[in-house]
Amino acid sequence: MKIIIATHNPHKTEEIKNFFKGYPVEIYSMAELGIKEDIEETGNTIEENALIKARFLKEKIDGIVIADDTGLFVEHLNGQPGVYSARFAGENATYEDNNKKLLKLLEGVPYEKRKAYFKTVIAVVERGKETLLEGKLEGHILDHLRGKNGFGYDPVFYVDNLGKSLAELTMEEKNKISHRADALMKLKNYILQRLEEK
Ligand code: IMP
Repeated sequence: MKIIIATHNPHKTEEIKNFFKGYPVEIYSMAELGIKEDIEETGNTIEENALIKARFLKEKIDGIVIADDTGLFVEHLNGQPGVYSARFAGENATYEDNNKKLLKLLEGVPYEKRKAYFKTVIAVVERGKETLLEGKLEGHILDHLRGKNGFGYDPVFYVDNLGKSLAELTMEEKNKISHRADALMKLKNYILQRLEEK
């Protein structure tokens, strides 16, 4: 079974390849297939963006195409930054800029009103079939940065049942509970089922 990942991010490709180690699937990145085009994320939701990326690639290639998109959804901000998580503080915003903006918007907001979740969506597009798989991680937004690990919003995202921010977890610890891991487990189940059907 051939799976192609609609991303130019080598870390994502590596993560998925590792996840499927030992399974009878061949996994390719766009680069490995010589596809260099950038796919514009023009959707209004992370679901739309994941589908846009997967459909774009499916037009060019045979096999199962997958694409993911992730966002942080803060309840008090009506779900912002959501689909705009990467560019919350502007088109070329750094992780630091985005965190600063988020903390500023939540200044003075009490802990119980700082609920948030990460959501990862994986779009799986095959011939005549589209499926959306979803992973989630719930927590609260802190009022200051905590921890040095991870990336993005990790230093401001508090995981209540662990009593730590995501940036205080090792990569191994994060990979057990993260939104992305949750979505990848669902992808694994999907692929296993497809292999059984063969
Ligand atoms: P992407 O769809 O995986 O590129 O994620 C979009 C944006 O969401 C990233 O630029 C980060 O700002 C944020 N993000 C995604 N996953 C994580 C995570 O695991 N921790 C913190 N921030 C994340």
